[in-house]
Amino acid sequence: MKRVTKAVFPVAGMGTRFLPATKASPKEMMPIVDKPLIQYAVEEAVAAGISDMIFVTGRSKRAIEDHFDKAYELESELEIRGKTALLDFVRNLLPRNINCIYIRQAEALGLGHAVLCAKPVINDEPFAVLLADDLVAAEPPVMKQMVAAYEDHQCSVLGVEEVPRAETKSYGIVATRPLADRLDKISAIVEKPRPEEAPSTLAVIGRYILTPQIFHHLEKVAPGSGGEIQLTDGIASLLSEQQVLAYRFTGKRYDCGSKLGYLKAMVEFGRRHPEVGADFSEYLNTLKPC
Ligand code: UTP
Repeated sequence: MKRVTKAVFPVAGMGTRFLPATKASPKEMMPIVDKPLIQYAVEEAVAAGISDMIFVTGRSKRAIEDHFDKAYELESELEIRGKTALLDFVRNLLPRNINCIYIRQAEALGLGHAVLCAKPVINDEPFAVLLADDLVAAEPPVMKQMVAAYEDHQCSVLGVEEVPRAETKSYGIVATRPLADRLDKISAIVEKPRPEEAPSTLAVIGRYILTPQIFHHLEKVAPGSGGEIQLTDGIASLLSEQQVLAYRFTGKRYDCGSKLGYLKAMVEFGRRHPEVGADFSEYLNTLKPC
């Protein structure tokens, strides 16, 4: 069995819902309290036993490279000031065995196209895809749960959750048949269906384990919803060749690609934060309802 050792992080989107915050910096660098979204996603991949982190970057790519790179000036400044705890923190953002690889998506042609950009690095292996703007609080971390499902069934696995019917037009939606505890077989997948046309209310979130055959299908798909090359359309095509499973993860997802989801994550992670959580909770309790 081929193990999942590589993860793709598509970070080349326009992030229009967060303009102007995302004008000069990718939305994946937005912090939840004191850590950028992309770091939560990379830590989740590390916890799942993944060692090669492949970032598909677009404009303003430098911020993410700089975040995971060595920061000589900052480190020497912290050293001079004797801030050893912070220095350790900055130096050890990632375990030493982790490789970071950067690939450029010259034009934001869609999530499917961004994943296809990683093909030269993936070769013939199964791989994970994590969309950092979907932040999932889970124990065990959601990608670790999904790798276990992949190892049991050795086929593509998509993270899914139920959403209100009115929201199907924001997601890839799957039609399924039950297979095992938390696992369904996908019979169809459709991108952003209108509520009255959605085959179910089971939505794909930003966590995927894909077999390398997905690349042949992504190479063939035409631009779909929004004129973009959609990963969902590639997966729909993959279904004609291979089994694809839907995994109902345990945990709580925050849609940090939307303002409301981002604010909810900030408040809930803030309340649990070891340094400021207690004071922040106390402050929240003093707020009067609007
Ligand atoms: P979204 O659909 O959230 O789009 O992308 P977006 O451009 O980032 O944000 P909005 O909707 O304009 O506010 C889902 C994921 O796919 C990546 C994004 O970075 C995000 O992680 N993506 C999207 C790419 O890497 N390349 C693309 O061409 C499109």
